[in-house]
Amino acid sequence: MRLHVADHPLITHKLTVLRDEATSSPVFRQLTEELMTLLAYEATRNVRVEPVTIRTPVVETTGVKIAEPRPLVVPILRAGLGMLEGMTKLIPTAEVGFLGIVRNEQTLQPSTYAERLPDDLSGRQCFVLDPMLATGGSLAAAIKYLFDRGATEVTAVCLLGTPEGLHAIESLVGDRDVTLVLGALDQGLNEHGYIVPGLGDAGDRLYGTV
Ligand code: PRP
Ligand code: URA
Repeated sequence: MRLHVADHPLITHKLTVLRDEATSSPVFRQLTEELMTLLAYEATRNVRVEPVTIRTPVVETTGVKIAEPRPLVVPILRAGLGMLEGMTKLIPTAEVGFLGIVRNEQTLQPSTYAERLPDDLSGRQCFVLDPMLATGGSLAAAIKYLFDRGATEVTAVCLLGTPEGLHAIESLVGDRDVTLVLGALDQGLNEHGYIVPGLGDAGDRLYGTV
């Protein structure tokens, strides 16, 4: 597994405002989208492209375009939805599929309650979006789902991660082609399975349910 943890003052600045409990839902949503766009720069570093010939006003030249099959972007409902716009702004031709996964707050085990994805993911580059990598159970379930459908390459983007979550993903993926892009790697989990220092419950803060 390849791991990239962002190291940029603008990302750290925006994450600091996001973490602040005084930040309102509208600002939290805006920042989540902006952070996704910044992280997308790294997450799409290996997006597949193919050569294309075009004509400038001056001369014929060659460039590249996003290759077929188009990338598939998969936000994990609910909190991952907050990152979707930030990604599709940069890759407007991407296809979007959905996975609904919720973790049981007592057992911390994930359960999948919704799925809308192409049946066959062979040869697709998949980008999974979820702001929080805590125990890693939810992201591991999502990545497993995509590999079971035939995906060969998965890039996951999370705003915050933990060493425990990283370990869970590493154990799952083995030598499969997985890249994890994090906005920050936090200290770890508290006794309730929340990320420390973290930002609280991402879904609740995005959608104003607190
Ligand atoms: C949050 C978050 C991740 C998951 C992370 O979702 O968005 O999906 O928890 O925890 P884990 O790494 O321990 O699995 P939640 O279950 O709260 O659902 P929601 O997005 O609908 O709020
Ligand atoms: N899910 C969240 O939304 N926040 C955490 O800190 C852990 C899991």
